[in-house]
Amino acid sequence: MRIARHTSPVSLADGAVVSEGTSQATGRCSTQASRDQAVDVGYNGPMDADIERVLLDRETIRRRVQELGREIAQVYGNPGENRLDERAGVTLLPILSGSIIFLADLIRELPLMMKLAFVHISSYPGRSTESQPHRTLLELTGDVAGRHVLIVDDILDSGRTLPIVQDAVRQRGPASLRTCVLLRKRGKAPAKLKVDFVGFEIDDLFVVGYGLDFDDLYRNYPHIGVLRAELMS
Ligand code: IMP
Ligand code: MG
Repeated sequence: MRIARHTSPVSLADGAVVSEGTSQATGRCSTQASRDQAVDVGYNGPMDADIERVLLDRETIRRRVQELGREIAQVYGNPGENRLDERAGVTLLPILSGSIIFLADLIRELPLMMKLAFVHISSYPGRSTESQPHRTLLELTGDVAGRHVLIVDDILDSGRTLPIVQDAVRQRGPASLRTCVLLRKRGKAPAKLKVDFVGFEIDDLFVVGYGLDFDDLYRNYPHIGVLRAELMS
């Protein structure tokens, strides 16, 4: 698959940085890319046919994850009330399963001592009717008490999941709590929901790849792409 790639980043609100390719990618696909800008994104497989267009190619993601590692290290390096003990480091808490690929790349760009804890959250409907409120099952493994905890998630959409995880961590008494998401859908989550690090702001689209799934598929698609709408109906 060949797509347009642009190299100069542009800053958006809240410190999020998106490559020009990202903002324009929402309206571009490989066939619209001019020939000299088109790059081979290095994937030809059975999932290509299901992807309407690539929103963020793997190289764009790699560069941004590298920057995020530096941003995170800088914030934790700032002197402050809860200054990080250099040897004790931070505890990263990925929300399973969507964040695993992002996590694997991010921790190798993080010049900090680090431990891992894991949280899994799933919602399931009430027993009898759909109108009953959804219930949530949360499992947290690993020690977060007294630790500087950084929650890592794949995407912030409606913002229903994240506060549940943040509250669960707070109840366990961390030294500090911050949150990093790779993607945030513009204008979806309540503004008061605090996220410290954002990789990319994207439009309200259903995306897959780089850990994000539809029906547990497409997590291994190396780019982040928009799934064809007819596959979701
Ligand atoms: P929330 O709506 O912010 O609570 O998002 C909950 C979870 O839904 C995210 O962590 C993702 O796992 C999943 N999700 C939301 N939007 C997408 C998407 O566009 N693609 C794949 N998964 C998504
Ligand atoms: Mg998730």
